[in-house]
Amino acid sequence: MSFMQINDLKVYYPIRGGFFNTVVDQVTAVDGISLEFEKGKAYGLVGESGCGKSTTGKSIIGLEKITSGSIVYEGQNVTHNRRGRGSSYNRDIQMIFQDAHSSLNPRKRVQDIIAEPIRNFLNLSPDEEKRRINELLAIVGMNEDAKLKYPHEFSGGQKQRIGIARAIACNPKLIIADEPVSALDLSVQAQVLNFMKDIQQEFGLSYLFISHDLGVVKHMCDHISIMYKGRFVESGNRQDIYTNPQHIYTKRLLSAIPDVNPVGREERKKERIEVEANYTANHKNYYDENGKVFDLKKLSTTHFVAMSAHEKGGI
Ligand SMILES: Nc1ncnc2c1ncn2[C@@H]1O[C@H](COP(=O)(O)OP(=O)(O)OP(=O)(O)O)[C@@H](O)[C@H]1O
Ligand SMILES: [Mg+2]
Repeated sequence: MSFMQINDLKVYYPIRGGFFNTVVDQVTAVDGISLEFEKGKAYGLVGESGCGKSTTGKSIIGLEKITSGSIVYEGQNVTHNRRGRGSSYNRDIQMIFQDAHSSLNPRKRVQDIIAEPIRNFLNLSPDEEKRRINELLAIVGMNEDAKLKYPHEFSGGQKQRIGIARAIACNPKLIIADEPVSALDLSVQAQVLNFMKDIQQEFGLSYLFISHDLGVVKHMCDHISIMYKGRFVESGNRQDIYTNPQHIYTKRLLSAIPDVNPVGREERKKERIEVEANYTANHKNYYDENGKVFDLKKLSTTHFVAMSAHEKGGI
């Protein structure tokens, strides 16, 4: 059973202009997506730059206004009161931001950064708070001397860990992790990802894992949604997406994953050319006359794809 449902979420940004700074147009950042979260599962959100991934994350957590659609958390419609002070939604849903550096207040010491959600949501005595901060630093593998330092004194990977410590401070149910490792070296990436997996198992956390890297998502996620221009083109479990992709956009993303293994490189090149030819030839099966993605249709209990109805079975 899912504990949270996102239904037909739409987020439009107004474009203002003219002498009176009125709204002249809008950017359709998220255009009708639905998601469900189950306890202890990781969900991936993948797509090219600008397709609406961060906007999805930020609107779920309450940093962006929702144009239409609803968010239901533990049976309650929370769409319009996501940021209520002291609300359980606010405590249980946390976010790790795309840019670790600017998400940490440079004027605050690490102990105050991590203590922020604790002070907001848990009524701890100063001693208990100190113990909790030490415990959190230990969970993310950092030394206790870190407490008195400022964010700029840490490396990228360490800053990301501080962000993680802050996100898990109040035992959240869901963490939205927006490209948590894309700014890091490969070796540090693996370290942070493995660590995120460990705490997921330990605390039964759910993740919405946002990334443009299908390799990282494969490592982390049980269920994956592929996003294009604010809509889902395909969604399914690891098997569905990686061994049985149906939408041409998913196939293009998969064929674009760089391959370090020289064996089979020629075949992959051939495959890429085939995918491109299919894209050009069958464009109308995947996008309508305005270039918009179709609605998702069910292929199996886990696998959904956005293709025109009459073509779905034939490919
Ligand atoms: N505050 C804003 N005002 C107006 N338009 C915005 C705003 N934030 C994002 N957008 C637009 O919304 C769309 C989606 O942006 P978003 O940041 O969600 O993309 P993204 O998928 O996270 O991309 P990236 O992979 O580069 O982080 C883009 O076209 C962007 O230009
Ligand atoms: Mg983003």
